[in-house]
Amino acid sequence: MPSYKDSNGDGYSDFKGLTEKLDYIQSLGVKGIWLTPFLESPKVDNGYDISNYYKVDATYGTLNDFRSFIAEAHKRNIKVIMDMVLNHTSTDCKWFREARKSKDNPYRDYYIWKDKPNNWESLFGGKAWAYDSLTQQYYYHKFAMQMADLNWKNPKVVQEVQQVLRFWLNLGVDGFRLDVINFLCTEGITADNPINADGEQEHVNDVDQKGIKQAMRTIKATVNEYDNRFVIGEIGSDKIDVLKKYQGNDLLDVVFNFNFGSIPEFSAQKIFDELQSMENNMSNYPTLFFGSHDMPRLYSRLALENPKRAYALAVLMLTAKGVPFIYFGEEIGMKNHLANTLEDMRDVQGLTHYKLAIDEGKTEKEALAIGNAHNRDKSRSPMQWNADTLAGFSNSQSWIPVNPDYKQVNVARQEKKPASMLSKYKKLIALRNAEPALQYGTYEKLSFRNNCISYTRTYQEEKIGVVINFGASYTLKLPNNTKVLLGNYVMDTNGFIIFKYQ
Ligand code: GLC
Repeated sequence: MPSYKDSNGDGYSDFKGLTEKLDYIQSLGVKGIWLTPFLESPKVDNGYDISNYYKVDATYGTLNDFRSFIAEAHKRNIKVIMDMVLNHTSTDCKWFREARKSKDNPYRDYYIWKDKPNNWESLFGGKAWAYDSLTQQYYYHKFAMQMADLNWKNPKVVQEVQQVLRFWLNLGVDGFRLDVINFLCTEGITADNPINADGEQEHVNDVDQKGIKQAMRTIKATVNEYDNRFVIGEIGSDKIDVLKKYQGNDLLDVVFNFNFGSIPEFSAQKIFDELQSMENNMSNYPTLFFGSHDMPRLYSRLALENPKRAYALAVLMLTAKGVPFIYFGEEIGMKNHLANTLEDMRDVQGLTHYKLAIDEGKTEKEALAIGNAHNRDKSRSPMQWNADTLAGFSNSQSWIPVNPDYKQVNVARQEKKPASMLSKYKKLIALRNAEPALQYGTYEKLSFRNNCISYTRTYQEEKIGVVINFGASYTLKLPNNTKVLLGNYVMDTNGFIIFKYQ
């Protein structure tokens, strides 16, 4: 949300800027936009720390700006999915400000308080408990200490959440991306977490608690009061068994599988294994993605020494079975950018690790390196629109630095070139939109040989074959009666072909 297009010069993107860019988004052929949080927030964690669930953050505009944005998006047949953070609120939220006033405040039980903390650790590093001196108890925060976990055991919290969901559904949002949704504390605080052989805490008792499915059912039932809405869950787990248990008509429509999307380095085998595992386990479509605001960019992570691979992965993402998610700027090959100074380190995860390292006695330089290893700002630098100052993102400043490669890597430059990444993405998306088999088709064959991932997708009478070669070059012999839709049968490394059976 903060990095797309700034219309008023404050250095943050906003709804007016986003509305200006809807024609561009439409020109890509995408059918929906997932907006990271835009509700009022002190932005300790990029807006994932909401302080008012009914207000658009002033940095991003007004509720009316949001209304015009969604109306304009819908005019272009683009759906709008809103990031909804229900595991925690900002400690600046009225609910928490009230809760901390006294032990008998009506909002006290909206959060989780304890006289003596257990051993649970925060997922951003350090302890998950913060001491509140006024009432002399600790509150629980799975993430930053400015983000207090909601107590889902309390039916009033559930009612509040339902009211929030209805408010935004009434305004026309097409669905939600539910943030860290299997982390909800539905059972309260249970046993300590075990410590593994490396001395690290395993998140066992603080995640996937018993009541979570019921909480999800309530959320889904509320969303289902409205027609045609969509719910996607961020499930923090690397186990397919955990992911699959949350997918279902009465639960989440689709879930992110980070074993697929955030693989740390390229491995065609691993990508294939995950595709297959999702095919064998998921009851609904899997999700297909290689980038987000939480991980290094696709290009820098998986394709730096091998730029053609970035596009080969896009081919996979847009032709395999599943719901594809393109992270902004991926379509022009944007790369990571990190400013490398403490002043510019805005990400709370990076900052927490930096501070912990300083506390452990590391030098400034070492601590900065540790912080930067966890700093998610690397994939959040502003969108590169053109070669003007600040890449056309803003006319006066930007909340984190723009990647200096913007003079070469930008939309305006690529729009004119048929061979650019952008033009190729557009072609690929257009093909996906034109061919129902690429959208809804089942796999007839999903196979992996000689580092080639291939599959045939069928839908009604239509049948489309895809081969993506991550191995050595060779020439492919196409089956009889087929027509090439995109790509080439001379299969260079990272080459691909998409063909249709006649
Ligand atoms: C999710 C978000 C991430 C955020 C965290 C806490 O993982 O994607 O950006 O920091 O939840 O809300």
